[in-house]
Amino acid sequence: MGKDLTKVETTFYFCDGGSCRKASRDLPLRSAQAYLRNEQLWENTHNVRTRCNGRCEDAPTCIIQPGNYWYKHLDSVKIIEIIKSHVEENKPVSEYLIFQEGWVQMESEKGRPSAKDSFFVEKEDDELGEVFLARSFTSDQYTYPLLVFLMSHKEDVSITEPSGKILQFKNLKHFEYVDTYKAKLEWEKHNFEITLGLVPKTEPLVLQQSKVSFTEFFYSQQKRGVRFKNKLGKHLCTLMFAPDNDTIWDYCLKVQLNMLSGERIVEK
Ligand code: FES
Repeated sequence: MGKDLTKVETTFYFCDGGSCRKASRDLPLRSAQAYLRNEQLWENTHNVRTRCNGRCEDAPTCIIQPGNYWYKHLDSVKIIEIIKSHVEENKPVSEYLIFQEGWVQMESEKGRPSAKDSFFVEKEDDELGEVFLARSFTSDQYTYPLLVFLMSHKEDVSITEPSGKILQFKNLKHFEYVDTYKAKLEWEKHNFEITLGLVPKTEPLVLQQSKVSFTEFFYSQQKRGVRFKNKLGKHLCTLMFAPDNDTIWDYCLKVQLNMLSGERIVEK
């Protein structure tokens, strides 16, 4: 029988993303479940596994509601201390917190470099020639929104496949990302797939190696676009934008690269 939510007072959201699994092997969750069951707290609490909470640098993590308490570096001992404190005393264990409602700053020893640190570097590139190039994030939380955005600007976008074949977005018949890993682009007589989702090591190597692992935005006077490579640095495809379409480029700078203004260049 499912959980009677009317009785639940505290919910624990244990991160089940890759970094947290690697860091914890589920031990905090197992320990929490055993404690909650044996202390007869099962009915009044709920524990849920989530996908990545976005704080991998603090793995393993757990969120507790109500109160929006975010905990870091859990282990099977700390989690019991945390549960006791929340359930018995209705207060957090501050020293293990990354964040709680009302805080204006996080408590994390390991700050991940922010996307604001993106910058363009002048480069003589084998494929693109002389360009300014900047690395961006490559999770599907960035790449899929980029593709969705470009669907509204099809007239000014093309894709170059590794074979050199160029296809125009304006002729696309269909675009979807319903597969676990791959977004599909369909033209009248041609299909192309871009692997966006995180591919586990249990999947075939070919699929793993088709995953976009490097995203590089580039521009010169004549060209603007973004290139995708796999983790071995192999070219997967390049999206070219019309160089005079400032709407696309502004979106790339602001949303994809988090550059608030202009095209920052810091190195030659
Ligand atoms: S995998 Fe747990 S926070 Fe990312």
